[in-house]
Amino acid sequence: MDSAAARRRCRNRGPWRGWTDGGRRAPLPKGQTTPNQLASNPKSGAIIRIVPPCRSFRNYGLAKSTWICHQFGIGLRIGSQAGSRRHLVPSSRRQTQMDQPLLEVDNLRFRFRGQGQDVVQDVSFRVGRNETLCIVGESGCGKSVTALALMGLLPKDAVRFGAGEIRFAGERLAPDDHARIAAMRGDRMAMIFQEPMTSLNPAFRIGDQIAEAVERHRRCGRAAARARACDMLRRVGIPAPEQRMDEYPHQLSGGMRQRVMIAMALANDPELLIADEPTTALDVTVQAQILDLIAELQAETGMGTIMITHDLGVVAEIATDVAVMYAGQVVEYGPAKAIFEDPQHPYTIGLMASVPSLTGPRRRLSTVPGSVPGIGQMPEGCRFSSRCPFAAPVCATRPDLAQQGPGHRVACHFAPLDRTLERSA
Ligand SMILES: Nc1ncnc2c1ncn2[C@@H]1O[C@H](COP(=O)(O)OP(=O)(O)OP(=O)(O)O)[C@@H](O)[C@H]1O
Ligand code: SF4
Ligand SMILES: [Mg+2]
Repeated sequence: MDSAAARRRCRNRGPWRGWTDGGRRAPLPKGQTTPNQLASNPKSGAIIRIVPPCRSFRNYGLAKSTWICHQFGIGLRIGSQAGSRRHLVPSSRRQTQMDQPLLEVDNLRFRFRGQGQDVVQDVSFRVGRNETLCIVGESGCGKSVTALALMGLLPKDAVRFGAGEIRFAGERLAPDDHARIAAMRGDRMAMIFQEPMTSLNPAFRIGDQIAEAVERHRRCGRAAARARACDMLRRVGIPAPEQRMDEYPHQLSGGMRQRVMIAMALANDPELLIADEPTTALDVTVQAQILDLIAELQAETGMGTIMITHDLGVVAEIATDVAVMYAGQVVEYGPAKAIFEDPQHPYTIGLMASVPSLTGPRRRLSTVPGSVPGIGQMPEGCRFSSRCPFAAPVCATRPDLAQQGPGHRVACHFAPLDRTLERSA
């Protein structure tokens, strides 16, 4: 295999279902499914090292021993061959790749054409490998449009981006660089959409839709892609996946369609998963299975996750960091522990107070009165001022997202609120 073909293959990824020794294929020996484990080829006796798919490959120590790059069990022996050595990432660069966040978003800002105000304004956050950022906020806060912008899925002609920057695995991407973002979509980054019925094509069988995504990005054969599709349907808890593969979206229940979307997004082992309310339509047992599956894949591949959800119970369970959005802005951002134990923005405090408690005394649930203003009706300065019980004249100027603790930032003139209230009492 020439080195160009080798490089092309090495971009493909797959589960480590098998291995090769010098080009001969063999099923993976029983129990040999752990990356970095040494195994021996029963036929030739050669020692090989089981490695994860190529992308994760870079995350493991590379040595002079034989390394195998897998694609649906079709491996490529590298390491000892001069041409294929080009696969290897120098250790200094490998370390840098591991250290840098997977995704960094700086001051993302855009508006829909014809609208006088930004729908998303100066949104910044970061997601590390194997970390989960939860984005929370009321309906209409701009969570989905932020996610769609990251995926390059907002209609090009309908949106005007301001100066903001996205860095994905250290690579700078202009938010309006649709072509570069599209090249990564479905492969390196994937999204579970909020509306499964409108995101699945009603005219195609679900098995074909998932297999097409696999075939396109892994450059594998149709049979292997269908096998992967079936496997993913099984992993997301679809009963009798072999039969369901040939059904159309309208023949499935809402929860099943949601799981098909999830299977499709996870089928290519993305580095970044954006999940927009992925478990809203599912009952609690299936919800738990899906969250477990995402956690499992994170542990396996180091996938970073952005989870958009209204369910603060889910957030408490899975979040590494939390971004609280209100009216297109991040109003509080920080480690999940800080947000839950010491919320400082009046809006976050209102959201937390609206969660029912099983243990405390029975009381009427607290609410944040009013609703998110529409674009064009946003107040000047702090966008929350029309609903904030602490609003004062100074709130007519926009508060910065200022540091309040390690990694904890709050956009409120009176933060930290508890100390301000103590002082004024
Ligand atoms: N294509 C569009 N054209 C114009 N405005 C849009 C478009 N898509 C979304 N919006 C507006 O952007 C704002 C944010 O919408 P978005 O869908 O991001 O809300 P959300 O936070 O995801 O809400 P939910 O929790 O209900 O899903 C809303 O005011 C919405 O009306
Ligand atoms: S800046 Fe003012 S209006 Fe905005 S959240 Fe703080 S107190 Fe409320
Ligand atoms: Mg949404």
